[in-house]
Amino acid sequence: MSEGRAVEDLVVGVLGGTGPQGRGLAVRLAAAGQQVLLGSRDAERCADVAEQVAERATAAAAGSEVSVRGGSNADVAGAADLVVVAVPFAGHAATLAELTTPLAGKIVVDCVVPMAFDELGAYVLDVPEGSVAQQAAALLPDSQVVGAFHHVSAALLEDVSQPTLDCDVMVVGDVREATDTVQALAGRLPGMRGIYAGRLRNARQVEALTVNLVSCNRRYKAHAGIRITDV
Ligand SMILES: NC(=O)c1ccc[n+]([C@@H]2O[C@H](COP(=O)([O-])OP(=O)(O)OC[C@H]3O[C@@H](n4cnc5c(N)ncnc54)[C@H](OP(=O)(O)O)[C@@H]3O)[C@@H](O)[C@H]2O)c1
Repeated sequence: MSEGRAVEDLVVGVLGGTGPQGRGLAVRLAAAGQQVLLGSRDAERCADVAEQVAERATAAAAGSEVSVRGGSNADVAGAADLVVVAVPFAGHAATLAELTTPLAGKIVVDCVVPMAFDELGAYVLDVPEGSVAQQAAALLPDSQVVGAFHHVSAALLEDVSQPTLDCDVMVVGDVREATDTVQALAGRLPGMRGIYAGRLRNARQVEALTVNLVSCNRRYKAHAGIRITDV
């Protein structure tokens, strides 16, 4: 539960934490002083990944202690105060359906993009619930689901030779306290701001915009992100 807790005191769990996006968020959050738990379908393999993430976070933390541990997705969902979902869309619904109880009462931050590729490049997949974040909310009725961190490239997150991230994070959700917390969490990463971008029913456009950024990346050999002006 995060109610009344300072954001820096929250233990952050990452489901699918062994992939590039989960590892990258974990590196930056741990370097910023957050306690991080990495989750996986294979807790043993995840312990090794957690060690590598901790090493990278230590390099970025300028001498401060970092805390990264690995475990199963279920253990991480139960032990963390706030949980980031970083599994592929194909495994999203099945992963969350098994974790309804341990995730109850918690903020669940979904960064999953419903995306596929064909000969024309990246495109958006339809989600019956309207968006991946709404699918999470339907599966987790007792959690506070927030959409965020879609537009941050894993490659930049993991590249700690760049101490500052030049991007904003659009944060969508229906509970003000939860979106405020996730904005504050994003704001702990140097250079990054969390910007409120509407209710969960507006998650679809935020998720889909990632596909445009991926198309930019392919054309310009970049790791494109976004900045919101005049805020
Ligand atoms: N990569 C990026 O730059 C980026 C940027 C923005 C958003 N995202 C979103 O972040 C999510 C993670 O991206 P990624 O590139 O890190 O993905 P990934 O490497 O394909 O998957 C992340 C982890 O999820 C677990 N996983 C794989 N298939 C699964 C399944 N069917 N069910 C449950 N877990 C499964 C694996 O961990 P274990 O085998 O250890 O369980 C894997 O290491 C995606 O939904 C993506 O849309 C990615």
